Formats: sequence, C-alpha cells, structure tokens
Amino acid sequence: MSKRVFIKTYGCQMNVYDSARMADALAPIGFVPVDDPEQADLIILNTCHIREKAAEKVYSELGRLRRLKQRPAAAGGPVLLAVAGCVAQAEGAEILDRAPYVDMVFGPQSLHRLPEMIARVSRGAGQALETDFPVEGKFDLLPEASAPASGVAAFLTVQEGCDKFCTFCVVPYTRGAEFSRPAADVLAEAGRYAAAGVREITLLGQNVNAYHGAAADGGEWRLARLIAAIAEVPGIERIRYTTSHPTDMTEDLIAAHRDIDQLMPYLHLPVQSGSDRVLRAMGRRHSADDYRRLVDRLRRARPDLALSSDFIVGFPGESDADFQDTLDLAAEVEFAQAYSFKYSPRPGTPAAGAAQLDEAVKRDRLSQLQALLDAQQQAFNHACVGEDLPVLFDRPGRHPGQVLGRSPYMQAVHVNAPASVLGTVQGVRIISVAANSLAGTLKERAVA
Ligand code: SAH
Ligand code: SF4
Ligand code: F3S
Repeated sequence: MSKRVFIKTYGCQMNVYDSARMADALAPIGFVPVDDPEQADLIILNTCHIREKAAEKVYSELGRLRRLKQRPAAAGGPVLLAVAGCVAQAEGAEILDRAPYVDMVFGPQSLHRLPEMIARVSRGAGQALETDFPVEGKFDLLPEASAPASGVAAFLTVQEGCDKFCTFCVVPYTRGAEFSRPAADVLAEAGRYAAAGVREITLLGQNVNAYHGAAADGGEWRLARLIAAIAEVPGIERIRYTTSHPTDMTEDLIAAHRDIDQLMPYLHLPVQSGSDRVLRAMGRRHSADDYRRLVDRLRRARPDLALSSDFIVGFPGESDADFQDTLDLAAEVEFAQAYSFKYSPRPGTPAAGAAQLDEAVKRDRLSQLQALLDAQQQAFNHACVGEDLPVLFDRPGRHPGQVLGRSPYMQAVHVNAPASVLGTVQGVRIISVAANSLAGTLKERAVA
C-alpha cells in the first residue's frame, strides 16, 4: 500500500520548488502527496528562518502536530515528523531539544537524502539530523524534477545560496555558498516542463542574476544567455526570474528586457532602504542613487517595465532622516507592488548585536511606508483599467464560468470565459479593480 506525505511549505518560492523536489524524492519509495496532515504517514515542515516570526511559526505548528505521534494503530499509527528547510539548517539540534518528538531535521542541501533518513528512522535507529553542506550536489542526486501537476506556471531553481552577506540576512548561512546549476540541466528541465504543458517559467535563485552556470561548450553562461536559450524552448511563452540583487543587473540582462519577448516586463528588485548610511550598514554594496540609475536604465530598455521591491524599516541606527530617504526613494521610483518588513534581528548575523530601535518606531515607520506602497499599487492597478493585457489563464475561478490568470505584471485577472482558455494566453480588456485582482473581458473568444 502506498504511504502518504503531507508537506507544508513556508517562506520563499525556492522552498516551494524544494517541496516539489522532496515529493519527487519520495515517490520512488512509495509516498504519494496528500493535503491533510491527519491522513499522512509522514509530515514535513519546509521552514523559513528569514524573520523571527517565520521561525516561531514552526514551533507552534509542531506543538499542534505533536498529538499525531500518539495516533492509534487503527487510525494509521504514529506519524513521522520532519523539519526541513532554513530553520532546520539554522537551528539543527536545537529543534530536537525544543521538540524532542521530531524524527528528522534536515537542511535545504540534504533533501536528496530523505529516503535514506526515513529508512534509518523507521528502523528505530534514532532521530536523523542532516545539516552539513554535503560535498555531493543535491541537484545531481535528486530524481528528475517532475512537471507540476497543476502546471501552467512553474518555478525552476537555477541558482542557490548567496555570497553577499548583507548584515541582516540569514540566507548565506541557511542556503550556503552561491551555486549555479549547469545550463544544460536547466534547459532539459525547462523542456520537460514545456512538454507537460507549462507555459510560464520563473527562474529562481536567492541571487538569481548572479547566475553563472557551466555551458555545454565549456564556457559559462550568465543569466541573460540562459534566458535567451529558454526563450527558444517550444511552448515557453513567458519567462520571469527572481530574486535579483541590484549590483548583479548586468548590461546584457538589461538588454534582455528589451530584446526577449517572452521575458515579462516585471522585475522584483529589492532595494531595502533609500538611505546610503543604512545601505552601507546593511552591507548592500549599492547606494540609493545607484538604484535610481539602474531603474532608469531598465526603463529605457523596457518602458513598460513594472517594478517590485523589498524594504526593511527600523534597521539599527536608522534615523528619521534615513527613513525619510526611504519614503523619498519609493515615491520617486513608483513601485507596482512591494513588500516591507520591520527589521528582525537574526541570531548569528552581524546586525543582530547592534542596539535595536523601539518597537513603536518600527511599527510607525512600517505603517507609513506601507501606506505609500499600497497607494502606489492601487494607482498602478487603476491605470490598467481600459488597457488590453495578455493574460495567461492558469486556473478556474471561484465562481462557475470564471477563469483566473496572471497579467504580465503578476496581477490576478479574472474573466468569464470557457475552461478551454486554461493554459493559453489571451488578450483581456481590463474593466475594473477589486481588492486583490483585476476583472476584464476576453478580447476575442478563444476557439473552443
Ligand atoms: N535575495 C533577496 C531576498 C532575500 S530575503 C535579496 O537579495 O534581496 C527576502 C526579503 O526579506 C529581503 O529582501 C529583505 O527585505 C527581507 N529580510 C531579510 N532579512 C530580514 C530581517 N532580518 N529582518 C527583516 N526583513 C528581512
Ligand atoms: Fe540575503 Fe539577498 Fe543579501 Fe544575499 S543578497 S545576504 S539573500 S538579502
Ligand atoms: Fe526563508 Fe530560507 Fe527562503 S530563510 S526566504 S525559506 S531562503
């Protein structure tokens, strides 16, 4: 009889990709994915360590799941409980101290060892802890990535890890050193996705634009070259990439936004702060003006490019004037969408030891910045009304007769249309803006 695995994913898109790879690694030993933890024989929490709140969620979830360790045989017997991902990497054995009923703790670089760990734990050989950065590459040892079951749009990890060591960030510690997958592997995976019906690929990496993968000709490809090659894969109509670091936005990548039709005019480009003093303390390696100039160059290459970003407020030492610089930069650039966070001191990172700002100051700054960014997002969405946008339809809507898709700018768009449009790009006239989506009408009815 097959066994059932429930995987809960926290954090960034790379964790979403990794969770799918865990399911791939478990399939050969008989596990099928389920979406109810009560039904599962194995539960994996694929965790995120980026902010304190993210990490704490894991312990509360473990507390809730604990009773499934006592499940009677008639109801399936005790569940196997695993903590994977960035909290596992950062806290390792500490998790086994705080939650001794956990069976397995393994970091992002060890997920290919999952079958071996399960065998060991099932034999009663004790808990498994895998938080080394193994010398063997997980990408070489994992089974071929299966195309996503629901798949019109898919993530594809091309790069992992980070060598930038921004002073607030855990990623270089949880994901390890920067690594780029060989271009041929990426292209083969993209080809398999396309053959399975995927039309949009988002290339993932913690610093995706630092990509420098080995090429078949013995040389090295940067991200722009890789994107150009993926654009040639039959069936791939849209390409995105995330997350980029401003200092790795090379000339050829900017030119790709001008030259490659499939590359969507939407870029997530975290700036973190508008103050040079704070950017220096963060170790970001760029100034606020560097960022402004970069945005100008990108918009010259691709005038309809929409930008998204990440901001941190309340970094140690951030003054009112520094925060005003952040508001000024955001007001100038005009983001289509952006994330903003209160600084969260992370154990082991350089900024964590510095004197912290008052919580009330952080809260107030966050709400000011969010009000500005929300207004910008609203303005951007409203400016789309009356426009014709190509929409890739990827799922049925909530109401009968409705289908849902994404605009080039990642906006959710719903229209009334036959299910036959799913998996295709259609022209849509945008007619209204709702809280989190746009509504429109199909320009031409799809041929059924
Ligand atoms: N590699 C990306 C994103 C890293 S994590 C980059 O280079 O920007 C995603 C976002 O989380 C970051 O952009 C940052 O805005 C936020 N973040 C990271 N560490 C944080 C911390 N300690 N406190 C608050 N926000 C943080
Ligand atoms: Fe973290 Fe991004 Fe800085 Fe790397 S570049 S340390 S992932 S914020
Ligand atoms: Fe979180 Fe790890 Fe991603 S810390 S944001 S899951 S790289």
